[in-house]
Amino acid sequence: MKFIDLFAGIGGFRTGFERAGFECVFTSEIDSACQEVYEQNFGEKPFGDITKIEPEFLPDFDILLAGFPCQPFSISGRKLGFEDTRGTLFFNICQIIEQKQPSVVVLENVKHLIHHDKKRTFKVIIESLKNLGYKVSYKILNAKDFGVPQNRERIFIIASKYKIFDFSKLRKKTTPKLRDFLDNEGDFEILDKSEYTLIEQIREQETGLLFAGYRNKGTWRKGVRPNTEHLSRVHRQPNRIYSIDGVHPTIPSQETSGRFFIYIPEQDIVRKLTINECYRLMGFPENFKKHRRLSENYRQVGNSVAIPVIEEIAKSILKQNLLIDEPQTEIVGNLQMLLFS
Ligand SMILES: C[S@@+](CC[C@H](N)C(=O)[O-])C[C@H]1O[C@@H](n2cnc3c(N)ncnc32)[C@H](O)[C@@H]1O
Repeated sequence: MKFIDLFAGIGGFRTGFERAGFECVFTSEIDSACQEVYEQNFGEKPFGDITKIEPEFLPDFDILLAGFPCQPFSISGRKLGFEDTRGTLFFNICQIIEQKQPSVVVLENVKHLIHHDKKRTFKVIIESLKNLGYKVSYKILNAKDFGVPQNRERIFIIASKYKIFDFSKLRKKTTPKLRDFLDNEGDFEILDKSEYTLIEQIREQETGLLFAGYRNKGTWRKGVRPNTEHLSRVHRQPNRIYSIDGVHPTIPSQETSGRFFIYIPEQDIVRKLTINECYRLMGFPENFKKHRRLSENYRQVGNSVAIPVIEEIAKSILKQNLLIDEPQTEIVGNLQMLLFS
């Protein structure tokens, strides 16, 4: 039950798999601030650049985990094999798979990956894994279905050697409310009433978000770092305020000043979500050690994974017996029956 943690960030994947009883035998992460946090929490400094890894020198493992950056491929050949992805980080993942032949590969990415480059990127990824001899399934999963009140959709691609992973077997939970994940006390940044407008009737959105109001024009730009306005959707809608009786929108990595504002009906106040609350919405343990710079924390936590989703995937891999070559077990069983009858 061993795994390797590639593009490890601050160890969201690792935490989920460890909770399910797996053991991490190798980690790679290029970013020094992430490496620092990883080392503080797991006691080992990740290997740096994945492109510098010689796959044959890796220890043996059963599962490869990777939340890899999405890059365009320039497909030259017609095969759609992983050779066509040369020069990308996905190519390095494939090289490791080819050399080490893990039983299961779990890849995670933004849901837009499906549509990236007129859907070609996704097609190449799936075909490459199939060409390496794997059975591939994928699904967009939302963190709010796994016990945390965050509307965070991510695509998961699971490739397995013996039996296809069945996403319908994942155990979902009822969506909790944001209010149950908040601190009751603290040094909260409360907005002045002149800074926002509440709408008359809170509007429930399909995603489970309860739209309560917006920050007034002129105030919402406060906290935007110069020249970063184009970076995320949050920069375009940072003025939206949601009620704590619903879920929270996706915590993005680009919002390094953490401009997430929530409405607390019983106190009739709007306040900023704290960084600790952000980590809680991702399922991190309360004692998780953070980076000393707040902006770094916002970047790291937004780049991470919702741990409860990962934990459920890990448990389901075990329950679905994906690490064992079942057909062979059956053949052995049949042979035994023949021999001993
Ligand atoms: C989307 S984040 C994954 C975060 C991780 N899943 C977590 O839970 O924190 C992708 C990570 O890949 C890392 N990365 C990018 N290029 C890399 C490379 N060449 N070698 C190793 N890591 C790399 C980035 O620094 C980033 O932390």
